[in-house]
Amino acid sequence: MTTPLKFAALIPAAGSGSRLGFGIPKAFVELHGKTLLQRAIENLSPLVDEVVIALPEGQDFDTSARKIVGGSTRQDSVFRLLQATEADFVLIHDAARPFLGQKVIERIKSRVVQSGAVTAALPATDTLVHTSGGFWGYLVDRSKTWAVQTPQAFRKNLILDAHLKALQEGFDATDDAGLANKYGANVELVLGDAKLFKVTTPADFELAEAFAQLWDRKKEDQA
Ligand code: C5P
Repeated sequence: MTTPLKFAALIPAAGSGSRLGFGIPKAFVELHGKTLLQRAIENLSPLVDEVVIALPEGQDFDTSARKIVGGSTRQDSVFRLLQATEADFVLIHDAARPFLGQKVIERIKSRVVQSGAVTAALPATDTLVHTSGGFWGYLVDRSKTWAVQTPQAFRKNLILDAHLKALQEGFDATDDAGLANKYGANVELVLGDAKLFKVTTPADFELAEAFAQLWDRKKEDQA
């Protein structure tokens, strides 16, 4: 008899969030009465076996999810999260993307078992251009360009190996799919969602605050 594959959701939430300008870690900022971190935990927990979160040193959070202390960079926080789980597969998701629907999670889970490395991503819709000193440099071929989101999911050993190699070489990546790809993984792009935008700037926050009311109402309707 085969044992069922175990999935863990890993949420790095140990950043300072200084670009948002609230003076508190971004994960603890509230949107329509609920923190970004609580939203991430609630979205993921019904579809995984465990949720582990990385918090800033000295910061606590009232949750049933498992808590660890994060590191000085996002990569370091994720590395610590990876060491904290025994799961076969991990879904790594930034608390900064609070509108994560069940369909995206299901797509990611079903593909990672086949591919070993996947990320949510969206085909670019804007015209994309390389800048040159604040002016139009040259066009990027939009038809071949996707914007990368989270969740990103991996076979646990694959992404742990990539992190270990990156640590040895001093390689820094902005996300885990980039890290996995750097060390040889073929990362599959799985259709994400426009609602998965990242709350980074005050303008993103305004959008998110307005949208949160609609999102929460829809959730109540589904319950
Ligand atoms: O700053 P940025 O939005 O790129 O951070 C992405 C995610 O990584 C955030 O959820 C943040 O809390 C997390 N992070 C972390 N540990 C750090 C820095 C960032 O867990 N040292």
